[in-house]
Amino acid sequence: MNDWLRQTATQHAQQNLTRTYVAVDDGEPARLLGYYALAATRLLFAGISERRAGQDVSAVLLTRLAVDRHVVRQGLGGYLLRHALHVVRDASLRTDVQCVLANATSSSAADFYQHFGFEALATDRRRLILPMRSMDAVCQHVRGFEPI
Ligand SMILES: CC(C)(COP(=O)(O)OP(=O)(O)OC[C@H]1O[C@@H](n2cnc3c(N)ncnc32)[C@H](O)[C@@H]1OP(=O)(O)O)[C@@H](O)C(=O)NCCC(=O)NCCS
Repeated sequence: MNDWLRQTATQHAQQNLTRTYVAVDDGEPARLLGYYALAATRLLFAGISERRAGQDVSAVLLTRLAVDRHVVRQGLGGYLLRHALHVVRDASLRTDVQCVLANATSSSAADFYQHFGFEALATDRRRLILPMRSMDAVCQHVRGFEPI
């Protein structure tokens, strides 16, 4: 987790490729607990829906989302995902964003996204989408988090 942040996140931010958000321990701000990164992308719908076939749509790519192994299953991953979706929803009020695309690094990660309503692409089960219309349901009930 730290390696990617040290080596890549700053470089990507400087080149406007991704934006990375981190969660740190309040009592120990140097301690990184988790992070996620977002990038703009476009998605070609080929045969997923007849109406959309062949069209490309604007999306936000959730390139990474991870929590420190010492704090897994304590709510942070869900919190970070909801935070990311609030950021995307905010962006969608200003520019064209039609869905969120997540890259899952494992089948367990894909299960995590599906738990929140993401749907796997028929062409690649490790890539999952959440349409903007499904966003509100996921964004509700964020513990200790004020919507942006
Ligand atoms: C996947 C990951 C981000 C989950 O983070 P977490 O902090 O353990 O998740 P939370 O405790 O916030 O769980 C939130 C909800 O997701 C569910 N959940 C967590 N991990 C899950 C999984 N692998 N499969 C299905 N559901 C999962 C929890 O049961 C919980 O459900 P609830 O809200 O109904 O109670 C974390 O395990 C991780 O960093 N894994 C390694 C990296 C990774 O796989 N990242 C995914 C993107 S590539």
